[in-house]
Amino acid sequence: MYIEDIRLINFRNYNSLNIKLNKNMNIFIGKNAQGKTNLLESIYICATGGSFRTNRDRELINFYKNEAYIGANVNFNENKRLIEIKLDRNRQKRVKINRVELDNLKELNSGLNVVIFSPEDLKIVKDGPSERRNFLDLSISQIRPVYKYNLNRYNKILYQRNNLLKSNKSKNDIINLIEIFDIQMAKTGTEIILSRKEFLNRLSNESYIIHKQLTSKDEKLDLNYISNVDFYNKNKNEIENNFLKKLKSNVRKDLMTGSTEIGPHRDDIEIKINNMNTRAFASQGQQRTIVLSIKLSQVEIIYMEKGVYPVLLLDDVFSELDGERRKYLSKSFNKMQTIITSTDLLGLEELEKMDKSIFYIDEGEIVYKE
Ligand SMILES: Nc1ncnc2c1ncn2[C@@H]1O[C@H](COP(=O)(O)OP(=O)(O)OP(=O)(O)O)[C@@H](O)[C@H]1O
Ligand SMILES: [Mg+2]
Repeated sequence: MYIEDIRLINFRNYNSLNIKLNKNMNIFIGKNAQGKTNLLESIYICATGGSFRTNRDRELINFYKNEAYIGANVNFNENKRLIEIKLDRNRQKRVKINRVELDNLKELNSGLNVVIFSPEDLKIVKDGPSERRNFLDLSISQIRPVYKYNLNRYNKILYQRNNLLKSNKSKNDIINLIEIFDIQMAKTGTEIILSRKEFLNRLSNESYIIHKQLTSKDEKLDLNYISNVDFYNKNKNEIENNFLKKLKSNVRKDLMTGSTEIGPHRDDIEIKINNMNTRAFASQGQQRTIVLSIKLSQVEIIYMEKGVYPVLLLDDVFSELDGERRKYLSKSFNKMQTIITSTDLLGLEELEKMDKSIFYIDEGEIVYKE
């Protein structure tokens, strides 16, 4: 799978851009604030329907314009797909594939798959659980469209349940009314737990192997799914029943806090190296290597699911890695189309012999191409 060309109109700091990409390696060089990350963001939106930087679509439209457009021609096993996104300040974004408008963004998932690695991703290791949940949600949504649907549904039910907990109805009324939400939450939440469990299993196995190869010190990377609903060695029905029971027994506490304590919206991933928790002790370099292992595993999982490799997006991270890891990572560049951004060519020497295109960006324009 690869992107043949990209067209941007009024997207962030791009007025009008029209470029052909190399099937293999693409390098975008530019000083700070010229539009490197913006370009990767536009590609990411074609794949997932949303940005990795913001939930507010309006921010994507150029400050001085009311509409924006992203278009990408994707080659998928020699089948061509034109993905088009239209953003408008006054209405919801619209997505077209091969000129047919989608009524549901879910379908976008089969169009283009990407894996992005940016400095922000270090948060997966060092920040709080919500970063890790977010990573899980975005990764699973790309390969399981129904997951996105379940997640939206779950969040809606959770929101309604919390509203009820905070309402000025009597305690007894609330406890009577809440059961409808509990049943739905347990049902949808169990689907989420099962998907996360399955994905993490695979991610853990893959990244264990990759991390070992990446570290000469033979670090054992271990990812564990943490949930306050007991899922271990349990089938779907058992998880759902546990979930429901726990919601019920916790309702008085929930009433006091006005929020729901039980459920996958509080899940986490425990990341350990040689049995030690990384959040507390991992060095910057170790954090980067862990994220690299995780991202390369995500690449392999997409390959196993789709039979083709995704497009790999590396935002300013390649030159930050040390020589050994750069070498390892560059081996995977032969498998898939890769798009790298950097402020200069220093640290990109490994890529010298590759078939590639180099683009120089200046204030939202490609001023030079090699
Ligand atoms: N909606 C928008 N309209 C116009 N310009 C925007 C919009 N959103 C962001 N920008 C501009 O885009 C620029 C940032 O672009 P981007 O984040 O792609 O930079 P970058 O090249 O990745 O820089 P760095 O090397 O610092 O990461 C900023 O100057 C910002 O003001
Ligand atoms: Mg950037």
